[in-house]
Amino acid sequence: MTLDLPVTDAGPKKVLPDAQTVTSVTHWTDSLFSFRVTRPASLRFRSGEFVMIGLPDDNGKPILRAYSIASPNWDEELEFYSIKVPDGPLTSRLQHIKPGDNIILRPKPVGTLVLDALLPGKRLWFLATGTGIAPFASLMRDPETYERYEQVIMMHTCRTAEELTYGAELVQNLRNDPLLSELYGEDFAKRLLYYPTTTREDSPLMGRITDNIASGKVLADLALPPFSPETDRAMICGSLAFNVDVKAVLEELGLREGANSEPKEFVVEKAFVGEGV
Ligand code: FAD
Ligand code: A2P
Repeated sequence: MTLDLPVTDAGPKKVLPDAQTVTSVTHWTDSLFSFRVTRPASLRFRSGEFVMIGLPDDNGKPILRAYSIASPNWDEELEFYSIKVPDGPLTSRLQHIKPGDNIILRPKPVGTLVLDALLPGKRLWFLATGTGIAPFASLMRDPETYERYEQVIMMHTCRTAEELTYGAELVQNLRNDPLLSELYGEDFAKRLLYYPTTTREDSPLMGRITDNIASGKVLADLALPPFSPETDRAMICGSLAFNVDVKAVLEELGLREGANSEPKEFVVEKAFVGEGV
């Protein structure tokens, strides 16, 4: 499926200026895939931000959706991590892209999951369910994250173990990256902690992020000191219900929600807009 991204009027076929070329595609499960595209030379973004991407419909009209950029800001390509929604207007098409195809990318990055939206601290928690790991796939690969924080803890929860694979492989690759070990010493693995859990299938670590924080299980399992609003910062990305529940748990621990304009102890972004929301 190589698209020329035709304009909708009856005039001569033109290539839209926002077209980018797919360079690779990886299918992780029946419902999850990641892909990389060329990066417009002029596109600058802060790791953790999202852009609008899409494909034309049968009439050439763009179907655009918000997508977190999963690659860090130093990468010469852009990576995205995507759900395949059965009958989803965009993803029922997007799941079939191949290297060489074009997608539409509106190069106006925005978002709240950026390091500048948090006050300085020592520990940074990334709390994600499902494809909500995408902005953290960017931030985990950005050296700026480790310059600002002594320790980063990636908590990712999915229903099943196979849904954790994209994140697990990414963390594994980071820990084996000779450049990061050179930059941050051989104990880099202790600076990037990973706590993957499942809720509907047995795996080494189980349970919802809310429960594992509120009960103190994650601290006990990783041998970490208690939460403190002085030192702990967090970023949340999941369904609306997840975001609301994690926010309540963090507020109970004394952390406050911040924003780009008013940095505080944690920030939140929806991983998707649910039915009827
Ligand atoms: P839609 O009509 O958009 O969605 C149909 C239904 O599918 C939704 O009502 C919801 O119930 C469900 N759904 C949609 N997306 C998801 C999801 N990611 N996980 C679980 N259920 C979902 N999606 C990604 O796959 N990767 C991203 O990095 C990503 N980043 C986003 C960032 C922001 C700020 C927002 C608001 C959304 C993001 N999304 C992301 C969701 C994305 O915009 C689309 O909704 C998704 O690609 C499905 O598009 P669609 O047209 O096929 O179906
Ligand atoms: P659970 O299996 O207990 O519902 P979903 O696919 O429904 O978006 O869920 C993705 C993951 O997020 C699942 O592991 C799910 O756990 C968990 N989850 C869903 N809602 C919440 C919530 N409100 N608080 C904490 N975890 C949640």
